[in-house]
Amino acid sequence: MGPLAGRRIVLGVTGGIAAYKAVEVCRRLVDAGAHVAPVMTEGALHFVGRATFDALGSEPVQTSLWDELHPIPHTRLGQGADLVLVCPATARLLSDYRTGRSDDLLTATLLATRAPVVVAPAMHTEMWEQPSVAENVAVLADRGVTMVGPVDGRLAGGDVGAGRMAEPADIVAAAFEALGATDGSEPAGDLAGLTVLVTAGGTREPICPVRFIGNRSSGKQGHALAAEAAVRGAKVQCITTQSASAPDYPGTEVVAVETAAEMASAVLERFPLVDVVLMAAAVADFRPVEVADHKIKKGGGVPEIRLEPTVDILAQLGRTRAGSQVLVGFAAETDDLRQNAAQKLQAKGVDLIVANDVSAPQVGFEHETNAVVLLGIDGGITEVPLCDKREVARVVLDAARDIHQANCEQMDDDGADRASNGDDT
Ligand SMILES: Cc1cc2nc3c(=O)[nH]c(=O)nc-3n(C[C@H](O)[C@H](O)[C@H](O)COP(=O)(O)O)c2cc1C
Repeated sequence: MGPLAGRRIVLGVTGGIAAYKAVEVCRRLVDAGAHVAPVMTEGALHFVGRATFDALGSEPVQTSLWDELHPIPHTRLGQGADLVLVCPATARLLSDYRTGRSDDLLTATLLATRAPVVVAPAMHTEMWEQPSVAENVAVLADRGVTMVGPVDGRLAGGDVGAGRMAEPADIVAAAFEALGATDGSEPAGDLAGLTVLVTAGGTREPICPVRFIGNRSSGKQGHALAAEAAVRGAKVQCITTQSASAPDYPGTEVVAVETAAEMASAVLERFPLVDVVLMAAAVADFRPVEVADHKIKKGGGVPEIRLEPTVDILAQLGRTRAGSQVLVGFAAETDDLRQNAAQKLQAKGVDLIVANDVSAPQVGFEHETNAVVLLGIDGGITEVPLCDKREVARVVLDAARDIHQANCEQMDDDGADRASNGDDT
């Protein structure tokens, strides 16, 4: 399941160099849960192999009006689509679409749809600036077609200028927006309307320009939480030391940090506006007092590294939380799991501690799997036996959602009590 689950998208690919970027667009849409039917023009086949879209799309590529078994091939795709997205769109496609020609499967699909249409033109600057092309674009936009880009930048053959296709992430964002506008529905999912902040990965505290004190956290559990929250409709802020592998769902802001101090400032700055905080990162408790300007060499004897405590982010959040905010801490332990976790639960002012025994096989750091116990401030205990980290994320987010709901109800009750006491503050 993803935010686009159940949505049918026809992805039209035409014959320009930027066709290779449509591969990335296809992947992202499928990852988001959409059913993607790729349609390639004969021109597009000169630039990208159909096997690529066959493999990445949700059904085999179609290229022609004449090779489908369906009796009415020219209308089937367009009629069944929730969105038709053309990327890249050549000057030829824009012209034919504007004038209502339907010589190939893609233009026939465009004419046979009532779904929203998003088009990402790409061509050399001279072509893009031709009055005929500009007029086609203006007419199509006037008819309600969404144009994404093009942008200024590097073009095929080393030229630079206007006409470069928009980036895949921006095209996908436009597709999301167009789909949202189709039926006016709220984003799906039980976390819609909530902002969830997730921290992920182990921090690195520099000793000198080449060495650091770090830990074995890979960010996988934090990223699984961010992905699960996004898929369930939350707006997600993912503060991570492993940004290269962070989930890139629309609606997710990924903030790359390295040290405990950077993580603290990224989290504390955002905290007042978030509903749920999941502190899954392994944040260093200590950092070197001095950071050498140059690499510490072997010859100078064994260096002494003096350490000082870092900011205790979780405790600080626990002291400043307000309203219905939910705070979830994580505890990686090797001994006395429950006892240590219970102590952390009380000490940090959080709603829930998710504790794992990282000395157990396949649990925690670097693994795809985890086994955790959830300790709630209300005394509730939930054991999650060894399973995929995404499954752990599901259970944690279920618990966080329920706590948030309870906090909101509590606030409503408090407000009603105050009102009945004549307290108007
Ligand atoms: C190397 C090469 C690159 C091209 N790049 C583009 C382009 O970026 N945009 C464009 O509109 N046409 C471009 N063309 C021209 C189109 O491929 C040509 O107009 C073709 O007929 C378009 O077919 P289609 O729209 O059916 O895919 C390029 C042609 C070649 C040979």
